[in-house]
Amino acid sequence: MSQKPRFEDLASRRAAALVAGGEERIARQHKKGKLTARERLDILLDEGSFQELGMFVRHQVKDFGLADNRPPGDGVVTGYGTIDGRLVYVFSQDFSVFGGSLGMAHATKITKIMQLALDNGAPVIGLNDSGGARIQEGVVSLGGYADIFLQNTRASGVVPQISAIMGPCAGGAVYSPAITDFTFMVSGTSYMFVTGPNVVKTVTQEEVSSEDLGGADTHASKSGVSHFTCASDADCLLRIRELISYIPQNCESKAPDQASVAPDRAAGERLDALVPDNPNKPYDMHEAIKLIVDEGKLFEVHADYAANIIVGFARLGGKSVGIVANQPAVLAGVLDIDSSVKGARFVRFCDAFNIPLVVFEDVPGFLPGTEQEWRGIIRNGAKLLYAFSEATVPKMTVITRKAYGGAYDVMNSKHIGGDLNFAWPTAEIAVMGPKGAVEIIYKKQIADAEDPAAAEEGFTEAYRERFANPYVAAEYGYVDDVILPSETRDRLIAGLAMLENKVVNNPRRKHGNIPL
Ligand code: HXC
Repeated sequence: MSQKPRFEDLASRRAAALVAGGEERIARQHKKGKLTARERLDILLDEGSFQELGMFVRHQVKDFGLADNRPPGDGVVTGYGTIDGRLVYVFSQDFSVFGGSLGMAHATKITKIMQLALDNGAPVIGLNDSGGARIQEGVVSLGGYADIFLQNTRASGVVPQISAIMGPCAGGAVYSPAITDFTFMVSGTSYMFVTGPNVVKTVTQEEVSSEDLGGADTHASKSGVSHFTCASDADCLLRIRELISYIPQNCESKAPDQASVAPDRAAGERLDALVPDNPNKPYDMHEAIKLIVDEGKLFEVHADYAANIIVGFARLGGKSVGIVANQPAVLAGVLDIDSSVKGARFVRFCDAFNIPLVVFEDVPGFLPGTEQEWRGIIRNGAKLLYAFSEATVPKMTVITRKAYGGAYDVMNSKHIGGDLNFAWPTAEIAVMGPKGAVEIIYKKQIADAEDPAAAEEGFTEAYRERFANPYVAAEYGYVDDVILPSETRDRLIAGLAMLENKVVNNPRRKHGNIPL
């Protein structure tokens, strides 16, 4: 007997699954400027690489008329594929099926691919576009979310986890992306909040739009919940591909190398001229980074949040590195609560995934004031200190200018495990800046002087002479070498090669207790 009818049956089931929510709802999705779950996977993954799992999964719910409404796939497309030839696991919620809402079958599909990712050591990428817990399934939906949260937590630090928010993401559903390593949001079509505008109005009487409450810009700049703001679905998916190129498959492997391409020829000269003569004059640390790293390319993370610190991925001699840099052009590069937390989370990601850290330091200290103290600059600043201290990946620091006070210790100093610490001749390494120091230690002498202003100037000059340079620290071995800015790239590349096989183990324990 011919098997043809069975094969044809399979073909028609497949065809139905590809448009599970129906053409009309797909058109609605497009009208909003959004791609469908499958179109998104086409852009995210290498052409033809997607292998779908669970295409025929359907819910088993009988209530609320669902017995007759059982679309194949249950509102989420799951499987695996490749990005630049490297394996990744994916789930992509299908808003055209029950608004992408999550019930038991839907959740089980997601946790299944997460388990595969864990077992086989590859990143998980979730494309979220969902009305949240499937109302008809009640507490079972909540359980499904909790199953995902548990898997997210178990996978944390084992395989990279990336979330894209490409539509609604509300209620407890926000906590899966929050646990993952990086969150991308699409401008204008995505939002995240624990409670929506209506509930906010009832409880606090505040009137706020979805966009203002939890749109892409809000989370990129105000809350820091989102790391990347994307102009469109396609932009978002292409940027995820780019991020993947900088990170390894899992905590046991290293990020892939690429060809080493130096920044342009004049970079060294421009770098030597970058730091202004006047120590109070700002300059853009992005410039320094771009004049040092491969192709002048920084894949910046959290670009719109706490801009007084810069974090992101780059390559040096073809090897992926995590950059953490004070930004003297914003708030003079001071460390405050938000920048400390931003830096700490990035450092921990890099450490978890074997990505060497390169620090560019120009920091006048921690931000003073009641606002910072009362909100806990002590325990939040401690996060960055803790993160650098516990990191066992290769760690290099370049002090470009100021390294003052506690911030000197915190920014990957030798004392907390910096492997190679360089300073430019423009570096100033001391307990505090000359003016503040002189006002304290020469208070009496200045007050008693015939000409207090002249006395203060004299003391300041003497202090500057003694401390506003890198050589005192170099004498103690706290910096390993003083180098020209134009020598930085070569020294860092040589350092990375020297540290390639670094092995340092922290004491055995269940887990540390970072000050949260
Ligand atoms: C079941 C849902 C759904 C849900 C949407 N749909 N949300 N079905 N459960 N949670 C269905 C709609 O019935 C509709 O079906 C289709 O999806 C599209 O929805 P629309 O409302 O037509 O779309 P739109 O106007 O774009 O509005 C989208 C929306 C809205 C803003 C997401 O649907 C909405 O507010 N939904 C409810 C959101 C919510 O309160 N969820 C629970 C959150 S609490 P048809 O058949 O007409 O196409 C939560 C807790 C998680 O998630 C806890 C984890 C611990």
